[in-house]
Amino acid sequence: MLENREYRAFADSITEKLLKKYPLVVRRSKGKIPYTAAAGVFDDRSGDELVGWWTNGFWGGLLWQLFGASGDSLYKEEAIRQEELLDSVLMKWRALDHDNGFRWLPTSMAHYRHNQNPGSLNRLMLAANNFCGRFNLSGRFFRAWNDFGDLDRRGLAIIDCMMNLPLLYWASDYTRDPRFKQMAAAHADTTMRDFIRENGSAEHILRYDIETGALLESLGGQGYASGSSWTRGQSWALYGFLFSYLHTGDRRYLDTSCRVADYVLSRIPESGLIPIDYDQPSDVTLEDSTAAAITASGLISLHEQTKKEVYLDTALRLLRVLDEKRCNYDADVDPLLEKCSAAYHDKVHEFPIIYGDYYYVEAILKLAGKATWIW
Ligand code: GLY
Repeated sequence: MLENREYRAFADSITEKLLKKYPLVVRRSKGKIPYTAAAGVFDDRSGDELVGWWTNGFWGGLLWQLFGASGDSLYKEEAIRQEELLDSVLMKWRALDHDNGFRWLPTSMAHYRHNQNPGSLNRLMLAANNFCGRFNLSGRFFRAWNDFGDLDRRGLAIIDCMMNLPLLYWASDYTRDPRFKQMAAAHADTTMRDFIRENGSAEHILRYDIETGALLESLGGQGYASGSSWTRGQSWALYGFLFSYLHTGDRRYLDTSCRVADYVLSRIPESGLIPIDYDQPSDVTLEDSTAAAITASGLISLHEQTKKEVYLDTALRLLRVLDEKRCNYDADVDPLLEKCSAAYHDKVHEFPIIYGDYYYVEAILKLAGKATWIW
């Protein structure tokens, strides 16, 4: 078991490095909504075609985290600009989807938690109401994504959606209307029943019959294969079920989060570097640092609820490995985490991805006692 002071000292030293790097990064990235980077320079998804991209809330969220930790208005001004850049998405129904939480919790919820401003409240309510239109009553799940070309996605549900449910739990608390929460809990129950396997691992994508709600098939999704354990999917399940517990008090969700966490703990490699899939062939060394960062942040919060030291110790181990081997603190380089991967079967792997940076910063600031809670 680690002493409190050991992880606080670690978190404080990383926070210092972050607060040296980011002022320069933010000044030269004004008006961009980054997803990845090339040659150390952020790309920009703020244009009309890509402004609805599902990760477009994370840079704003990272800025709010840094504002909460430092009080520096540089971060707040740019975070508000990020939130405003997302406004056009609220007028694009094909861009809105189950990831409305990922778009507006790190931006508008963070802003609302800091300032209780009516503009952020309005955005959150629009996003929550749109989200509810995705509920399939027969199958009791939120449909993932929108159709694209020939792709029929009407019956698809995905583990990632669990991370978005806090938007709905919050909407019920705010309006004192249980509809949002009822749908969120129904989705969590379906996910608990169908996605979580006997050994505590999680499916990525399931297809249901859109009329009867019957479960039809499991799809491999972004992992190695159907039946395998995509590492980011495991981290979404671990952290996502914890959110449902925190918002409902239903211990079945906490137990599910722990079951997934115990599975993940049993699969983390000796190196502490996280692969794209825990079941990828042993000669494949591809990594996904986002999964490491999300798992670490989820485990820190799970430790707060369960007091199981192994969760905190494992989170610290993952963060230490990222700090030593996969973080670039150079202020001349925009992204932070190296070797992130979107999907096992993509052509390109191991590049910077903005939500990896977000969850790493969130996890470090939680340990430092300086994080803004946005979920
Ligand atoms: N939510 C999509 C992903 O994790 O890649």
